[in-house]
Amino acid sequence: MELPFAESFKIKMVEPIRKSSRPEREQWIREAGYNLFGLKSERVFIDLLTDSGTGAMSDRQWSEMMLGDESYAGASSYFKMKEAILELLGFEHFLPTHQGRAAENVLFSVLIKEGDIIPGNSHFDTTKGHIEFRKAIAVDCTIDEAFDTTLSHPFKGNIDLEKLENILKSKGDKIPFIIVTVTCNSSGGQPVSIENMKMVRQLADKYGKIIVFDSARFAENAYFIKLREKGYQDKTIREIVREMFACADAMTMSAKKDAIVNMGGFIAMRSKELHAKASVFNIMFEGYITYGGMSGRDMNALAQGLYDGTEFNYLETRIRQVEYLGKRLMDYGIPVQQPTGGHAVFVDAKRFLPHLPKEEFQAQTLAVELYLEAGVRGVEIGTLLADRDPVSRENRYPVLELMRLAIPRRVYTNNHMDVVAVALKNIYDRRETIRKGFKIVTEAPIMRHFTVTLDRT
Ligand code: F0G
Repeated sequence: MELPFAESFKIKMVEPIRKSSRPEREQWIREAGYNLFGLKSERVFIDLLTDSGTGAMSDRQWSEMMLGDESYAGASSYFKMKEAILELLGFEHFLPTHQGRAAENVLFSVLIKEGDIIPGNSHFDTTKGHIEFRKAIAVDCTIDEAFDTTLSHPFKGNIDLEKLENILKSKGDKIPFIIVTVTCNSSGGQPVSIENMKMVRQLADKYGKIIVFDSARFAENAYFIKLREKGYQDKTIREIVREMFACADAMTMSAKKDAIVNMGGFIAMRSKELHAKASVFNIMFEGYITYGGMSGRDMNALAQGLYDGTEFNYLETRIRQVEYLGKRLMDYGIPVQQPTGGHAVFVDAKRFLPHLPKEEFQAQTLAVELYLEAGVRGVEIGTLLADRDPVSRENRYPVLELMRLAIPRRVYTNNHMDVVAVALKNIYDRRETIRKGFKIVTEAPIMRHFTVTLDRT
């Protein structure tokens, strides 16, 4: 008999989590303005709000914490990070930042000016926020297949080359760079194929543009390439990662994902000139160029995390757990983005609650229901996240209205996944009875989903 699959780690330290009753949760979520970000974490049983900064570090990473060099300038921790980035990702220059959006802030301060257009594959919300804050426009060139959750496609993160070339042709003078998000979070943690990256590179060269990879989940992307792309089965994750980044001129990194640290990020680039220009903004916004908002111990853990995160065994355990939850939900007939992504399962709220008007925030309604049912915290990736149009101030209704269940790295067991699956099944069985959604009470002018408060309609 073939042995079943099991995790490639054992557990050395544990953290208790608390269960609660439905009446308690009803009160807590009402007090939070029906915004899951507003909950105290101790009031959550299984926290799938994000996979960002929520992972468990390895013993090797914790050992590195003790070796951190806290010198203001020229710390050995900086050089450890530099070596890992050069060896694993192939970039000669880099700047540490405190997280991914800080990397965007610094790099975009150099590259973007008012009126620019930045094409890419479903830009993440902070990426889009930093583009729109500079009065520039993010144009989504993701393939159409990504917007049909019932369709199985191995690389739903891919860029539609025709859409990209059209915009390069018609608006080329306004485009400072192309952004490729690996994996593509907003479309469901979906990977981009190497073939697509290479084609984007060709187009970028044809039109004289640079490419920036938004790399938060680059290793998960590489895992999918190994499994799904012809000719890559026998390559190591690290070989694939090198081949991916060979298509980019620069990268921004939220190290809170695939470098498995609780805080940290960086920008890496080939151009010494770009590094020099970005250094000015790094010093202004983040810190001196050899620490950029990070402590030495955190840089050490990050460097080690890049090695941990690019090991096949780790990635297999990680992605098979996400797949496990996805499969359990599909077995119950619950509509999810197919195939399941790298870091999360995305439940299609439009198909889950089709009778609820989109103006009442279907995905948010589902996320609140799930919290009430079992103390599980997911997050809305839908109309609240999509914000209002910067010019018309009208709500932007995205094609996909999703509830994301993001799975922290090396944190929960499959028993936790079973609780999530059954909780959602219970809601699915009584979905017809969910007749009321939410209306907005207060909201911020940009990135409103973090702080919006709601009430029942
Ligand atoms: N790019 C992508 C693709 C992301 O998913 C994130 C963060 C960022 C950039 C920004 O990085 O948080 O370190 O500033 N995503 C988190 C999430 C917040 O929950 O998906 P950050």
